[in-house]
Amino acid sequence: MLKYLLGLILVLQLTNSAFGHLCLFDPPQRNPNWAVPIDSGDNACFRVRGNCGNVTSGAPVAIYNAGSTINVFFQQNYNHWYAENPGFLDISISYDGDNGDFTLLSPQIDDYNAWDMVTQTNYTVPVSLPNKPCKNCVLRVRYICNNPAEPNFTQCSDIAII
Ligand SMILES: *[C@@H]1O[C@H](CO)[C@@H](O)[C@H](O)[C@H]1NC(C)=O
Ligand SMILES: *[C@@H]1O[C@H](CO)[C@@H](O)[C@H](O)[C@H]1NC(C)=O
Ligand SMILES: *[C@@H]1O[C@H](CO)[C@@H](O)[C@H](O)[C@H]1NC(C)=O
Repeated sequence: MLKYLLGLILVLQLTNSAFGHLCLFDPPQRNPNWAVPIDSGDNACFRVRGNCGNVTSGAPVAIYNAGSTINVFFQQNYNHWYAENPGFLDISISYDGDNGDFTLLSPQIDDYNAWDMVTQTNYTVPVSLPNKPCKNCVLRVRYICNNPAEPNFTQCSDIAII
């Protein structure tokens, strides 16, 4: 029985770990509960519902100066390249919550063919923050892969701008 249960747990873990695609390291995403070192398919990288992966907002985890340039550091944790209609990643900010208006901070970052889905690709993208303070803004990174077999991946970080 124990052996069966362990087997079942393993299968569930393997099944779960088949879904992991975008993780935001800095500023840290909400619930940054990835394993260290992070592997491809980490569950923390699978957030797909709504603008912020349906993860509730919290207190700011980073404070930046208005108008400053920051490096946003994230990982495409699985590569879902879709040759027929290549996708992209982008970075944006909302001053009015998860369902507010997101303003693009980065250009679209073209997806690329890694030839192997489990490829992990780190990105460090400098972006200029708006010259406008906020007590609680939402910085969002998306991976829109345009792959009909996949959803859109989003990660949000709660930040403040002074
Ligand atoms: C969002 O999360 C809540 C709480 O975990 C859950 O009840 C709800 O079904 C989720 N909504 C979607 C669209 O996944
Ligand atoms: C990507 O970033 C993660 C998290 O910091 C790190 O563990 C990993 O070594 C990095 N990978 C590469 C190829 O730099
Ligand atoms: C993913 O996002 C794009 C751009 O906002 C949208 O056009 C598309 O319908 C979304 N796809 C899914 C599966 O939600």
